[in-house]
Amino acid sequence: MTREPTPRDRFSFGLWTVGWLGVDPFGTASRTPLEPWEYATRLAELGAWGITLHDNDIFGFDADAATAAARCRRLKEATDAAGLVIEMVTTNTFTHPVFKDGGLTSNDRAVRRFGLRKVLRAVDLAAQLGASTFVMWGGREGSEYDGSKDVFAALERYREGIDTVAGYIRSQGYDLRIALEPKPNEPRGDILLPTVGHALALIAQLEHGDIVGVNPETGHEQMANLNYTHALGQALWSGKLFHIDLNGQRGLKYDQDLVFGHGDLVSAFFTVDLLENGFPGYPDGPRYTGPRHFDYKPSRTEGMTGVWASAQACMATYLRLAEKAAAFRADPEVREALAYSGVLELAEPTLGPGETAADLLAADDGFDPVKAAERDFGFVRLQQLAIEHLVG
Ligand code: GCO
Ligand code: MN
Ligand code: MN
Repeated sequence: MTREPTPRDRFSFGLWTVGWLGVDPFGTASRTPLEPWEYATRLAELGAWGITLHDNDIFGFDADAATAAARCRRLKEATDAAGLVIEMVTTNTFTHPVFKDGGLTSNDRAVRRFGLRKVLRAVDLAAQLGASTFVMWGGREGSEYDGSKDVFAALERYREGIDTVAGYIRSQGYDLRIALEPKPNEPRGDILLPTVGHALALIAQLEHGDIVGVNPETGHEQMANLNYTHALGQALWSGKLFHIDLNGQRGLKYDQDLVFGHGDLVSAFFTVDLLENGFPGYPDGPRYTGPRHFDYKPSRTEGMTGVWASAQACMATYLRLAEKAAAFRADPEVREALAYSGVLELAEPTLGPGETAADLLAADDGFDPVKAAERDFGFVRLQQLAIEHLVG
């Protein structure tokens, strides 16, 4: 049996995850709503450390300022009483039809001004609730038809919007960092910043890029047929892994947002291995120190019993994989296999200290390509050791 989660594990959940009522393009709600603070309290009882939310997870799009403030106060009282942290806040710029062509990149300038104002208000909310991360997921920033969006202009407006938000955070002195969340498609046919790589490239163009990183979601990289663990690896290598959305996805289809581990389990094992144990060749290399945040949807078939069981399942699977990954790394046979495979050797620079390209060209190290090509890397054995730890 895996141990129970505790706040020390820093598990967090979006209020919109356990709060998802099952509305999809083909059907109405299959569950009845609770108040946001009711979800929060129950998550704390299950061992979660934190929650995350959109502005409109607490108050309606049309709520007046007094109602919004009262509902935020009510939530904060409940989270304080339960010992929960509100670690991340984000803005809903996708549900209301005003955002049908985007919030920050709508072709309609008046909508962009309204959208940016809504995001800035959510930044104030994030600071007020004590969050440390502000996620920006541009689900409606995109198009269905190539002729309907000037991509140059859209990226200019995206950059303008993000830099305005980052500059605002800075001018207010808020202790907040922005995390951009990529996704290839859904709800738009094509979404701008479709992958972690695209988001990192945009961040490099920002004026305030130092406080902007990424929030990679398991299923979103996998919807693009990409390797989630590699995405986390590159974000860490770039010093930009500010937050994560863990969930499950089974292949190239709509965004399933399954329970963590209910998609590609082998990939989930290596995700947890990287998050918990870091890069094998760099014991002192960069590590992810943020929350273990789940962004999933309890299947529409489940009642509230299933909702809580699914939240528990996310945490239980993570903890179990963490145990297995620790055992994998500690196993002498694995260490030997890692060395045999050259995984550790890859951390050694290709050039010697001070060696130049000219030195390399002039050097004769007696290398025999035919002999080198005979090398057995042992990657299959290494992978099988991982599988045996995983299923053993
Ligand atoms: C998705 C996204 C969203 C965002 C969230 C934050 O599944 O398409 O994950 O859930 O993460 O709305 O804005
Ligand atoms: Mn998703
Ligand atoms: Mn997400």
